[in-house]
Amino acid sequence: MNKYESEVCSVFEARFGHAPARTFFAPGRVNLIGEHIDYNGGRVMPCSLSLGTYAAASPRADGRIRLVSADMRGGVIEADIGAVSALECRPECFSGFGWAAYPLGVAAKLASRSHSIGGFEMAVCGSLPRGSGLSSSASLEVLTCAVLKELFGLTLDGVSASLLSLEAERDCAGVNCGIMDQFVCAMGRRGAAVLLDTHTLEYGYFPFDPGENVLLIMNTKKPRRLADSKYNERRAECEEALRLIGGLFEPQKTALCEITPEEFASVSAVLPEPLLRRARHAVTENRRTLEAAEALEAGDIARLGRLINASHDSLRDDYEVTGRALDTIVEAARSHPAVLGARMTGAGFGGCAIAIAERSAAEDVIAHVSALYRSRIGYDCEIYTAETGDAPFGKDDNDENC
Ligand code: GLA
Repeated sequence: MNKYESEVCSVFEARFGHAPARTFFAPGRVNLIGEHIDYNGGRVMPCSLSLGTYAAASPRADGRIRLVSADMRGGVIEADIGAVSALECRPECFSGFGWAAYPLGVAAKLASRSHSIGGFEMAVCGSLPRGSGLSSSASLEVLTCAVLKELFGLTLDGVSASLLSLEAERDCAGVNCGIMDQFVCAMGRRGAAVLLDTHTLEYGYFPFDPGENVLLIMNTKKPRRLADSKYNERRAECEEALRLIGGLFEPQKTALCEITPEEFASVSAVLPEPLLRRARHAVTENRRTLEAAEALEAGDIARLGRLINASHDSLRDDYEVTGRALDTIVEAARSHPAVLGARMTGAGFGGCAIAIAERSAAEDVIAHVSALYRSRIGYDCEIYTAETGDAPFGKDDNDENC
């Protein structure tokens, strides 16, 4: 048992007065490349992490749901499975539950699909730095799917669990995100990156072994304050760009990422600013992700590093979702000769960036970036080596997708 499992078990026992039936884990994620295109039908390439969310849980016979978080102030949140199942899945109906809107939203979504679930007790605790953009909410949603599947013997595969978790996030928590985070938190595997086509949900695993290199997570410690409002604004801009150019093709394009960079060049003059740059990011990022898959397959980490750099530049200049903290940490990393590439990861506007660096120089890179960041931004960042981890549904299927 690691320290988080012990902690979640002691919180469970202290609050509920008995030992849990079982413990569970669902990972957080970093996205290697393919940013802000999971709502444009693009390809994304995230990895599941060894950091994530732990749960200790037991079923209850009386239909009561009792939830407690080791990380949040406040006591046990109580609800009744009958009442939760009857709630309309709208944010207003769940906002009063605070953090528990995520697990209760998942329970409501499962019930709405005629899965037979009863009451349960669950304690959770996380090893992901909160608010850092490593997908703590998707991790909690998928974790709840894994818990309820096990406690109530549900028939639920990983793709269905990710889609259901996405619906809970959109409808019950009110965040209009794409499928990437829930998918990789459900389906990721240790030592692998997932290449997911968000248009068709076809996916495959690519061995992610940086070899002589390491993947660093660089947390700017800048809260992602603008993330939700700007996220929705970018989505709307992409929809508008597609409306303007999709019909110029025969057959009509139904997602921006169906357009190749070559095709885009022939229609881009139709788009006003900033829609031109927003759409150009989507189209070129999709191509970069496919090239990154080729680079991984060939074990060409230097090429992956160059693609990662180009991705950040596009997110900074065309998509405008980076900001000073992320640009500063990425520039600081790139100014070290042992760094092969660096970029923001996730929604942007704060949160985390990643860097690929030579393993032998990792300590030096961390010291270099930390000092530069502090001198330019005025407070400390936090940098550590990313380890990939197994997701609860990652090994459910056969190995056709390897
Ligand atoms: C957030 C969303 C994802 C994705 C990324 C940007 O993490 O939850 O669906 O859109 O931003 O790539």
